Amino acid sequence: MTHVPSAFQPKEMRSPRPSLRRLALLGATGSIGRQVCDLVERHPERFALHALIAGTDAAALEAVARRHPEAHALLANPGGTDAGRAARAIEEAICDPDVDMVVVAAAGAAALAPTLSALDAGKDIALATKEVLVMAGELVRDRMRRHGSQIFPIDSEHSAIWQCLWGEKERAIRRLILTGSGGPFLRRPLETLETVTIAEALAHPRWKMGPKITIDSATMMNKGLEVIEAHFLFDVPYADIDVIVHPESVVHSMVEFVDGSVKAQLGVPDMHLPISVALGFPERLEGITPAPDLAALGRLTFEALDMVRYPALALAREAGQRGGTAPAVLNAANEEAVALFLKGQRRFVEIVPSVREAVERAEPNQELTLETVIAADHWARAQVRTSAGGSSRVRSKLPA
Ligand SMILES: NC(=O)c1ccc[n+]([C@@H]2O[C@H](COP(=O)([O-])OP(=O)(O)OC[C@H]3O[C@@H](n4cnc5c(N)ncnc54)[C@H](OP(=O)(O)O)[C@@H]3O)[C@@H](O)[C@H]2O)c1
Repeated sequence: MTHVPSAFQPKEMRSPRPSLRRLALLGATGSIGRQVCDLVERHPERFALHALIAGTDAAALEAVARRHPEAHALLANPGGTDAGRAARAIEEAICDPDVDMVVVAAAGAAALAPTLSALDAGKDIALATKEVLVMAGELVRDRMRRHGSQIFPIDSEHSAIWQCLWGEKERAIRRLILTGSGGPFLRRPLETLETVTIAEALAHPRWKMGPKITIDSATMMNKGLEVIEAHFLFDVPYADIDVIVHPESVVHSMVEFVDGSVKAQLGVPDMHLPISVALGFPERLEGITPAPDLAALGRLTFEALDMVRYPALALAREAGQRGGTAPAVLNAANEEAVALFLKGQRRFVEIVPSVREAVERAEPNQELTLETVIAADHWARAQVRTSAGGSSRVRSKLPA
């Protein structure tokens, strides 16, 4: 039977009126980060920024910080400075008693350590970076339970499921149905995928997002990562999480209940909406996006996922089911393969085989700690870097 963790039950409100929520924002200069800043600017009565944190781009961070002079601005990788010192400053900023919520929207694996620190400090998390749950879902759940913190999903599919579950009983859930647009290559003849260019893979038909998630949407690895994310967020077995293709991206996901009812959440494809649900919970904020005009849309279509076109999905399920550090291997191998593709050093069709090779070669460690996850992450990256897009020359095994 499936369970909705207590993290998704509304916390008792501290005051009858919504109060100011002070945010530390990881990934402040990215696609999600900039939309979080928009919301803060539109709702100064609800949100204030305590810290703005980015990776390496000092000029971009400075541009955001100029609009929010009240916030501390920090880089995780400031050139020339001791990286340990930067990490400590970030930890201090996100664990500050003044921070009510940490918004995690930093690219990929880099978000894991600060997220664990925030959970240890008892902070609530608004989570965009699905990679955190993919790499270390059990660790994250364990820290949440231990410190009484909550996770509010930002990913549009998980926000949709979360909203469908409000007011429902755990035992009433039969399955979760994640929708995916199919990305830019839904109708492209399979034999022409060999020649996909970086620009073609970055041209998502519905969503404007950062480069890594856009490539993941083209391979549908994004949906595979989301299946693992949903498994950990909602405590639903993999067998009860399905994926369906929905090219219009208006139905953001669904929940099927034991009586045969299906609830769906609809909205225009604009991340401001799920971000506002996570940041504003339990209130809904006024006028975030226009509602979808269903008469103008005319029809919403759904189709079964083509497993030949999108082999990443079965691969992600397999890694999820193997458990331990297997999903961390999947995630790191994918991050590395996508980075190589974006540098022009791998072909599009080589991304998923590179990841498969690393996952199949790995001997996952079932003991999940930050150290075993990081070891698995480094091992998988090295595998992909030294492989030739599916035919690895490296024979070393994942360290136990
Ligand atoms: N974009 C979307 O619509 C969307 C939707 C659903 C989920 N998500 C998820 O949200 C996350 C962010 O996606 P995105 O599209 O916003 O990515 P993005 O546009 O590439 O932005 C990534 C951000 O992370 C920062 N960053 C990199 N390393 C960091 C570190 N060590 N510490 C703190 N910040 C760091 C980057 O700063 P620098 O540029 O300085 O390195 C940048 O601000 C991803 O996990 C993605 O899957 C995104």
